[in-house]
Amino acid sequence: MVETDGPDVCACERCPALVESRSRIVNGVGPDDAALVFVGEAPGANEDAEGEPFVGRSGSVLDDALRDAGLARADVRITNCVRCRPPENRDPSADELDNCADFLDRELDYVDPDLVVTLGKVPGQRVLDRDVAVTKEVGSVVDARLGGESRRVLVCLHPAATLYDRSQREAFEDAIQQAAALVGAGESDQSRLGDY
Ligand code: URA
Repeated sequence: MVETDGPDVCACERCPALVESRSRIVNGVGPDDAALVFVGEAPGANEDAEGEPFVGRSGSVLDDALRDAGLARADVRITNCVRCRPPENRDPSADELDNCADFLDRELDYVDPDLVVTLGKVPGQRVLDRDVAVTKEVGSVVDARLGGESRRVLVCLHPAATLYDRSQREAFEDAIQQAAALVGAGESDQSRLGDY
């Protein structure tokens, strides 16, 4: 039996390897009525230590791109496909992604965002339920069926990809700008985001 509180998971032991490797469950952060939800893969060491998604180097890249797009981190919701840190920062397995799938679906139902942005290949594939060539598809906007709802999804690179390949940085930043524009960020009549 999994304990939950709104979009948060309070206790879960579905994935034995992750129960071993995690220090805590890392839930999504940000307003629970955010217009924009960013979905990453799984917490890393920093996120596991602090209990918040994207607080390490990838998080700085994301924060910078948000700021350049006129958004503050606090204006958006940031979450992951899998809420517990995999051992040695390996990719989450298919079983682990499946075990955590209903938590993400429920979070999206609860927040009901205007746009979901997938950060990297694993979240892109989980959300779109198909193979995703993320470097080719970055910036594409598609509709996806998630937890019984049709949602608008923007495919984006993982911010870590821009750390190892600087040529990806511009495509990443452009996609974040596009996401802000799609939810009318800064235009209070079109958006549920605040003023920045
Ligand atoms: N990478 C992710 O996919 N998620 C995090 O929370 C941190 C790094």
